[in-house]
Amino acid sequence: MCGIFGYLGQQDALTLCLQGLERLEYRGYDSTGVAGITSKGKIALCKEAGKLSELKKKLKLKKLEIAIAHTRWATHGKVTTVNAHPHLDTAKNIALVHNGIIENYIPLRDQLKKKGIPFLSETDSEVIVQLIADSYEGDLLKAVCQTLHLLKGAFAIAVIHSDHPDEIIAASRECPLSIGVADGATETIISSDPNAFLGANWNVLFLRSGEIARAKKGSVEIFDLDLKPLQKKTERMINDTPPPSKEGFPHFMLKEIFEQPSTIQKALFGREHALELKGLSDEDLKNKSQVWFIGCGTSYHAGLLGSMLLEEFAHIPSHAEIASEVRYRVPIFSKDTLVVAISQSGETADTLSAVREAKAHGCQVLGICNVTNSTLTREVDGAIFLKAGPEVSVCSTKAFTSQLTVVTLLAIYLARLRGNPAEPLLAALKKIPEQVAEVLKLAPQIEQIAKKYSSYNNFFFMGRRYMWPTCLEAALKLKEISYVNAGGYPAGELKHGPIALLDAHFPVAAFCANGQTRDKILSNLMEVKARGAPVLAFAPADFYEVEAIADHTIWLPAVIDPLAPFISTVAGQLLAYFIAKQKGCNIDQPRNLAKSVTVE
Ligand code: G6P
Repeated sequence: MCGIFGYLGQQDALTLCLQGLERLEYRGYDSTGVAGITSKGKIALCKEAGKLSELKKKLKLKKLEIAIAHTRWATHGKVTTVNAHPHLDTAKNIALVHNGIIENYIPLRDQLKKKGIPFLSETDSEVIVQLIADSYEGDLLKAVCQTLHLLKGAFAIAVIHSDHPDEIIAASRECPLSIGVADGATETIISSDPNAFLGANWNVLFLRSGEIARAKKGSVEIFDLDLKPLQKKTERMINDTPPPSKEGFPHFMLKEIFEQPSTIQKALFGREHALELKGLSDEDLKNKSQVWFIGCGTSYHAGLLGSMLLEEFAHIPSHAEIASEVRYRVPIFSKDTLVVAISQSGETADTLSAVREAKAHGCQVLGICNVTNSTLTREVDGAIFLKAGPEVSVCSTKAFTSQLTVVTLLAIYLARLRGNPAEPLLAALKKIPEQVAEVLKLAPQIEQIAKKYSSYNNFFFMGRRYMWPTCLEAALKLKEISYVNAGGYPAGELKHGPIALLDAHFPVAAFCANGQTRDKILSNLMEVKARGAPVLAFAPADFYEVEAIADHTIWLPAVIDPLAPFISTVAGQLLAYFIAKQKGCNIDQPRNLAKSVTVE
C-alpha cells in the first residue's frame, strides 16, 4: 500500500492524477482509484481492481479541479474493487488515500462499530476516514490532526472533504510524501514520490514524520501535531525525463537485460580511481572496523556478494543482512560500523527502517541507489548512484549488475585506502561489459533450453562461493516471473536436506563458474545426477568435465571468480525470462508483486 497522488490547479485534476498513477505503479498495481470534488460540491469516486488500464476503461468522471488518487499493493484485504482506494466515510463527504499500515486498526474499528459506523472494506485505511468523519466539526485540518493522534503504525495520507473544495490535507509518519508547488503558484501536487511531478518546474518540500500539510492551489502550509505552523524550505526540482519506452523489445525486462553492457559501463565510468561519497570522507572509511550490507530481494543478493568482495579484497569483516531482519536483531553496531544500504528504488520501507535503526546506533550509512531524489538518498550520509536509468520491469535485472559494479568498486576503493591495492580486480571489471555482451548473444540458445525446462514446477540452483548468492538471485528471478518454485543453495548444502526432493521431475541448474571450488561442484553434480534429476549446467568455456555429467550445458565466458556473478546472472535472467515467456506469464508486472514495497 502503495502510491498516493493529489492535484489542485487549473488543469484537469483527473488527467494529472492518472499520469501520476502511471509513474507510481511501481509501488503496486493491485488496484487503482481516484476521487475528486465536483462543481456541485460532491465527492466523485471511481476505483477498480487490477492495473491502471482497468480504471481507465471504467472512468466516466468529468473534469475536476481537485482530486486524490491511489495505486495499491494489497496488505489488509483481498484485491477487490471494494478494498481499492480512495475510501469514503459513511456520509460520502470525505475521501482518503493511504500508504502504509495502521497497526491498531482492529481496536479502532471495533470502537467505531460500537458507535454504529458500518465498514464496507477489509482495509485498515477505512478506519482512518471514519475516524476523521467522527471527529469532524467543520475544520478538516483539525479532524485529521485529532485522528493522527489515535493511529499506530507508519503511513502517509491525503484527504479531501466536499465542504472544503479548495484544499487537500496530507500527513506523514515514516512514509514519504512530497508536495510540489509549481512556478507561478497556480498548481500544487502531492505525491509519494517527487519523480512523479511531471513537466513543469516544481518547488518541492518533503513532509517529515509527524507533519501535516494543508495544500491549496499554488500554496501549502505545514503544521506539527499540535497544529503549530512550521516553516519549511523547498527544493527546486525539474523533471523533464520522458517516460521510458520498450524500444522495440517485447518487454521492459528483455530491454533492461540487453542494456546491461552499457549500464555496467555507466556505473563504472569515472569511478575507477576514486568514489565520490559526499558526506563520507576517506578518513571515515579507513577507520571502519566492520561493514554491514542491508537490502531486500535482489538488492540483498548484491549485498551478499559485496560482503564477500570486501572481505577478500579490503580485508574488512563484512556481513550482509536482509533489511527487514536488522531491527529485530541485536546488531553490534557502533560508530566504527559502516552500513551500506542497497536499494534500486530507495523507497523500500524495510530498508529505510533498517537505515534509521543503524543511524540511531550512531553508524554512518552509505546508500547505493538507482533513483535520484529517493527517500534513501535523502537520509544517508553518502550515496553512490547506479546511473542505470529507470528500471521498469518489476523483476530487477540491470539494477543488480550495476549494484555489483558499485560494490566491486567499493571493495577496490576500500582495499586501496587500507593499503591492499586490487588492481587486477579493476582490470578484470573493465572487461565485464564486453563479456556480458557475449552472454547476450546466447539468448537464442537459452530460449531453446528454456522451452525444454518450462514444464517443470520446481527448480534448484546450486553453486559454491561467489556462485551461491548468484543462485539465490537466479532462483528469485524464476519465482518472480514464472511462478516456479525455485530455491538457491550452496552446492555443498544440498546433501544436507534439499536433495531429498530430487527426482526426474525436479531439475537442478548448476552454476559452475567458481574455479576455486571446481572439483567440489563436479562431485555435487554427480550426486544430483545419481538421484535422476535433470541437470542444466552454466559453465565457463574451459570446464570441459561438466559436459559428460550435465544434460544440457550453457557455455559462458570465463572470468575470475569474484566477477563470475555478472556472467552467470545474465544467463540466469535470460533463462527466467524465456521460461516465463513460454508459460505466457505477465513478465513486466508479475502477480502479487510491486517494484518497490513501501510497507514493512
Ligand atoms: C521488491 C521487488 C524486488 C526488489 C525488492 C527490493 O520486492 O519486487 O524485485 O529486489 O523490492 O527493492 P529495492 O528497490 O529496495 O532494490
